[in-house]
Amino acid sequence: MPRVLAAAAVASLLAMGTPAVEAQTSPKFFFLQFCVGCHQYDGSGLPPDVPSLRDDLSYLIGSPAGRDFMLRVPGVIGAPGSAEEVADLLNWIVESFYQGETDPAPFTAAEVLEGRKRPMKDPIKERLELLASY
Ligand code: HEC
Repeated sequence: MPRVLAAAAVASLLAMGTPAVEAQTSPKFFFLQFCVGCHQYDGSGLPPDVPSLRDDLSYLIGSPAGRDFMLRVPGVIGAPGSAEEVADLLNWIVESFYQGETDPAPFTAAEVLEGRKRPMKDPIKERLELLASY
């Protein structure tokens, strides 16, 4: 195939591929692929083992310690993707599931990077201590 035609074919393939690539890196796609098994399609979780992302976030999202906790749970620390993608995922979770009345500040990539430096050793214990402090 002449080089120009080959380039055109590649360009049109890339153009065709664009929407699919976007869909595969959307926050919803990440949630469905990496979080839904535990947190469920509607974020309701599997209480008491897996907390609801609908109700329980109300305790966490408004306080610096709670936000810090959200950034450091194993699911978030281990989520594949860039810090920007994980921040987008957390913001999508808040937008899609959070039922509280406060209007929390969006999570940023910088916060995700900070959280990644301090993974939790015992999330269940830290969560109980944190909730007891509210
Ligand atoms: C294997 C099951 C599992 C998977 C998969 C999982 N989580 Fe979790 N998640 C939990 C459990 C259990 C907790 C409670 C804290 C703990 O014990 O780790 C939690 C807590 C959280 C919290 C804090 C909310 C709270 O009330 O404690 C957030 C935010 C969160 N997960 C987000 C995610 C995201 C985002 C993903 C996917 C990238 C994910 N999780 C994948 C089990 C899971």
